[in-house]
Amino acid sequence: MTETPHRVEFDLNSLNTLGRFHYRDGVTGHLTTVHPQFDYRKEQIINYITRFSLTSTYNIYGINRGSSRRQVISSIPVKQAAYMHSFGMTENFIILTEFPLFINPFRLLLTGSPFIDNLFWKPEHGTTFLVIDKNSGNMVGNFKCEPFFAFHHINGYEEMGNVIVDIVSYKDSSIIKSLCLDKLRQGNSLIPTPQMRRYYLDLASNKVTTQILSKDFVEMPRINYRRCNTRNYNYIYGISDHESNGFPNKLVKFYIKSKSLKHWYKENNFPGEPVFVTAPDTVEEDEGVILSLVLDTIKRKSYLLILDATCFSEITRAYLPFAVPFGSHGQYFE
Ligand SMILES: [Fe+2]
Repeated sequence: MTETPHRVEFDLNSLNTLGRFHYRDGVTGHLTTVHPQFDYRKEQIINYITRFSLTSTYNIYGINRGSSRRQVISSIPVKQAAYMHSFGMTENFIILTEFPLFINPFRLLLTGSPFIDNLFWKPEHGTTFLVIDKNSGNMVGNFKCEPFFAFHHINGYEEMGNVIVDIVSYKDSSIIKSLCLDKLRQGNSLIPTPQMRRYYLDLASNKVTTQILSKDFVEMPRINYRRCNTRNYNYIYGISDHESNGFPNKLVKFYIKSKSLKHWYKENNFPGEPVFVTAPDTVEEDEGVILSLVLDTIKRKSYLLILDATCFSEITRAYLPFAVPFGSHGQYFE
């Protein structure tokens, strides 16, 4: 998956690439997310795709289990489309967090310049949470707050009339350009770090309030998704920086209630996104393992690290005969 709507199909057993996958459902668009959500009650994949035009549209769609047709749940016309890398979901609602980082599609089309050169930070617009009812497709709330930017939603759930959205938020969009290779190669520039924040969207009063879950840098957040997605939960797993310079080189487990952190760190080892895999027949939310692809820069090889998700200690690691370039996301398939 990429954020362009091109999907490549591969064989789950051999991992052979089968080629481009084409939807045949008439849903059109140009920019999508690599963070589809899964609604376990409806057995439906949910994602959205933005169609650029004079009036652009966010097309939110569902794909039923066993189907490869996208069915549009809601189409939201907007004057300016924002760059949104992921979105939130609760039991009844889909939440598009519209950061004031807007795309100029005409400039993109006419100049052929790289995508990120066509993103414009306009903080005067603030950030807007668009809350859409999954069943009717109606927008039931539109919550404006201070401007912030994020790549990753962590989780969402409903509680006492509030739609709660947990998100890894940056004060602006400067993180994107700070990750350009020429900046990173300077080696001394600080990379902006985010906070994990909880936003309460009060559906009755249309008010939004914020709580900082943690000021510690945590990115690539993962949870026990099967059990906790759209529900109140305890643990967030992610990557963080040992040297407080914004360059991730350790894994963390964050316990929301006590705000305590467990971590896994080995010098010269650079772990990627921690993927939580649940143990069979569990009682506790954190019973299972963490999978992470780690680059060992001394051995110049990558390995799959397996941690006990409860105590966050290493169970084993499996070296590959080569180094794997840093990726972004991973997925476990049973
Ligand atoms: Fe992502």
